[in-house]
Amino acid sequence: MGSIAVEFKNPATATLLEAAKARRTIYGLKAESPIPDEVIEAIVKDAVLHVPSSFNTQTSRVVLLLKDEHKKVWDIALQAMEGLVAAGVLPKEAYESSTKPKLEGFRAGYGTVLFFVDYDALKDIKEKFAIYADKFDPFALESNAMSQYLVWTALTSEGFGANLQHYSPLIDEQIQKTWNLPANWKLDAQLVFGTPTSGPAEKTFAPLEDRYKVFGK
Ligand SMILES: Cc1cc2nc3c(=O)[nH]c(=O)nc-3n(C[C@H](O)[C@H](O)[C@H](O)COP(=O)(O)O)c2cc1C
Repeated sequence: MGSIAVEFKNPATATLLEAAKARRTIYGLKAESPIPDEVIEAIVKDAVLHVPSSFNTQTSRVVLLLKDEHKKVWDIALQAMEGLVAAGVLPKEAYESSTKPKLEGFRAGYGTVLFFVDYDALKDIKEKFAIYADKFDPFALESNAMSQYLVWTALTSEGFGANLQHYSPLIDEQIQKTWNLPANWKLDAQLVFGTPTSGPAEKTFAPLEDRYKVFGK
């Protein structure tokens, strides 16, 4: 779907929206980086610092794993899936033909960003604003998703391909143990990235008319 031709007052707005359009799901990845690790770190740190959270609760926790440390995530997932095969939950054939190559594809990348939510950090605010208590957990997840999106978009803008995965709770315990992470960091998503070896799949767009309204223009 093309751009809507308008002139922005600030050219950075056009750049921002172009970056949003360029972000896609890329599964073909290799273990090379187009940028120094410090630049990857700067992207992730900026996301942690500057992505908003409800009442500024700052509930997102992020772990950046590069190279061999990244591979460990996908070894954990492979092991967890093999456990499911052994337990008779996942058919061996499905594992060999589909799950295993997919996980090995993630493992072939350069890095993984683990996104967690620290729900314990909401204890005080839930007491203070009891009327909203049940809203804070979903708000925390929404804020976490904003971080995922920003990092995904920025890494793409720097030449990476990336895809977003969800292997929680299957991998949670081993992830926590492997990097000795606080038990109250609840894993939400894993963003896998690397130098792209394939393009994105074709994407269809449901009509904008069914999804957008404007009044008072
Ligand atoms: C909240 C959310 C969860 C997703 N979970 C997964 C996932 O677990 N595995 C996966 O391969 N892709 C996942 N995706 C990627 C979507 O399938 C993908 O973004 C969508 O099909 C649009 O394609 P695009 O990313 O190329 O624009 C997820 C995306 C979002 C926004």
